[in-house]
Amino acid sequence: MKKTIVLTGATGYIGSHTWCALIEAGYNVIGLDNFCNSSVEVIGRISAITQEKLIFIEGDVRDKSLLDSIFLKNKIDAVIHFAALKAVGESVEKPLTYYDANLNGLLNLCMAMAQHSVKTLVFSSSATVYGDPESVPIKEDSALRTTSPYGQTKLMSEQILRDLEYSDRDWKIGYLRYFNPVGAHESGLIGENPRGVPNNLMPYVAQVAVGKLDKLRIYGGDYPTPDGTGIRDYIHVMDLAEGHVSALSHLLDEGPDNASFTINLGAGRGISVLEVIHAYEKACGRPIPYEIVARRLGDVAAYYADPALAAEILDWRATRGLDIICRDSWRWQNMNPNGI
Ligand code: NAD
Ligand code: WQD
Repeated sequence: MKKTIVLTGATGYIGSHTWCALIEAGYNVIGLDNFCNSSVEVIGRISAITQEKLIFIEGDVRDKSLLDSIFLKNKIDAVIHFAALKAVGESVEKPLTYYDANLNGLLNLCMAMAQHSVKTLVFSSSATVYGDPESVPIKEDSALRTTSPYGQTKLMSEQILRDLEYSDRDWKIGYLRYFNPVGAHESGLIGENPRGVPNNLMPYVAQVAVGKLDKLRIYGGDYPTPDGTGIRDYIHVMDLAEGHVSALSHLLDEGPDNASFTINLGAGRGISVLEVIHAYEKACGRPIPYEIVARRLGDVAAYYADPALAAEILDWRATRGLDIICRDSWRWQNMNPNGI
């Protein structure tokens, strides 16, 4: 019997790629999204990729009656909760908007799940909970401290879920701390589709490559790193999506070791901004103009995962290298120069 999963934030960047991976893995999926940061067009794209008729509900994860109706009308086995706001800078300007969306969204979802005895959850956390790490690579037991309201919402969400688990051991929760998701589905039909000027490096480079933006500004060339630019752990979004499938099947497994877990989802390699630029130039066959400017407030020098625990618990590893990341990102950008 196929298991049925509710995917909140289903038409977003990571949600849309995870939807494809879940269908490929044989799950029934009910997608939920309010389109505050994605497009309805994504649904047709996912349908084209999977050749499946999709079940999708437009709505807000804070809408209690909507969630009740979903759980009443369907036998749900688990939820993957992607729906949240994620722009660090914006969260500093609009903290209440972020606390409302990310905390009330989670609280409402968990109350509906509890009410309908659905107690298996995969939660989208973030490596941002580690703040400025004492050392790299970062392990899951590293100190947790974060500086932005967005990062606080992730830290608080984890705490809410740990308290929930402590109160009711029937809950099985996978806390997945993503590093830097990048790239796109190999079809070029879905990918990272930021609104306005991208905050993140990879979509910005992609838009320079396609001519939408004139040049990349590299935030800092004087970091204590081999080439002076910031180092991050870039993980292909399809590796990330497959990590969610592994996490879900582990939690749904009837066996004795289907306990909750907290894992880093990263490639476990540190890549600099200049290395990304050179790899992207190879992928797109054209130069990426850039200028080195002052460091960005809040940035850290180097940041990458120790992914050993994910391999141990889930037998999952990232397999796609920087060349594939840039190739897939470029195909998506070139096929959709104005996004969707
Ligand atoms: P995204 O903005 O592309 O996707 C989030 C989706 O959720 C969007 O489609 C948006 O419309 C939807 N949404 C937001 N609030 C909602 C609400 N209240 N009700 C219903 N739908 C709502 O972001 P993403 O990059 O796919 O991130 C997904 C999750 O992963 C988020 O929780 C984010 O915090 C987390 N995360 C992302 C990154 C990253 O760099 N992309 C890194 C670490 C963690
Ligand atoms: C990567 C590197 C920049 C843009 C962010 C969030 C984090 C998580 C992932 C949600 C850094 C440099 C960037 C540019 C640049 N999101 N850069 N010029 O900051 O590692 O992480 O996304 O959970 O919470 O903080 O990602 O892509 O913004 O930056 O030089 O125009 O690229 O300095 O070294 P970051 P990023």
